[in-house]
Amino acid sequence: MSAIGAASRQGRLAQFGLGLLLVAAVVWSVHFLFGVFDKYRHVDAATYTFFWDRRAWLWTHLAGGALALVLGPVQFLTQWPRARGRLHRWSGRVYLVGMLVAATGATGLIATSPAPFGIRLAFAATAWAWLLTALVGLVAIGRGQVQRHRLWMTRSYLVTLAPVTFRLLLPVPGVFAVLPPPPEGIAWLLWLSWALPLALHQAGRWAWLALARRRLPLSGAVPDHGG
Ligand code: HEM
Repeated sequence: MSAIGAASRQGRLAQFGLGLLLVAAVVWSVHFLFGVFDKYRHVDAATYTFFWDRRAWLWTHLAGGALALVLGPVQFLTQWPRARGRLHRWSGRVYLVGMLVAATGATGLIATSPAPFGIRLAFAATAWAWLLTALVGLVAIGRGQVQRHRLWMTRSYLVTLAPVTFRLLLPVPGVFAVLPPPPEGIAWLLWLSWALPLALHQAGRWAWLALARRRLPLSGAVPDHGG
């Protein structure tokens, strides 16, 4: 097989793998959202526990967060073909509004939370990572840097998935044998729920670029967009 043929097969395989990951993210997100809305539709102090006095912040947070979780995958599905450009732009704007609303709710929750400082710090770091990744993605598209925009919005979506990832990591057997016990371990898990996906994504990118450069050593056609 020629180097070009092998590279294009490798590209299709990578796309298939990423498609599967997106499907898994959608399934986990839907499962997470059903669980959340099933729980918090019972509007009483017993269900809301320590969120009861802060339920306005929680509802603000949930409304915006749900919007961002639902619209994240729409952004990936509408990036091609160009005919979907308008839909992509509009749902992207609503995704960002959802994020801002959720981040406002998160700020109110952090400010009023009885949780230990380490946990509140981890939440605040998540909020900053969320806002910063989206901001870099937004500035990139404003400058016409499409690859860089894709990269940073992918990172933003990985941070959007943090609560879903957290719920997946929490029941992993032995997780608090590796991490310190709660509450310190919860703070660690909050950091990991977005830092780990971002690190894995970056490792995947580097592996992909190294492989592509090995297959097409002379073409120089495998730029590392986005940084
Ligand atoms: C990625 C940035 C996010 C940050 C910084 C963040 C921050 C927070 C904070 C500070 C709390 C309250 C914790 C406390 O008071 O102890 C919270 C709770 C919660 N957040 Fe988020 N959140 C984020 C994303 C999301 C998203 C996208 C959703 C999806 C709807 C979501 C759903 C929830 C839920 C359901 C709770 C209540 C926790 C529970 O029932 O156990 N969050 N979040």
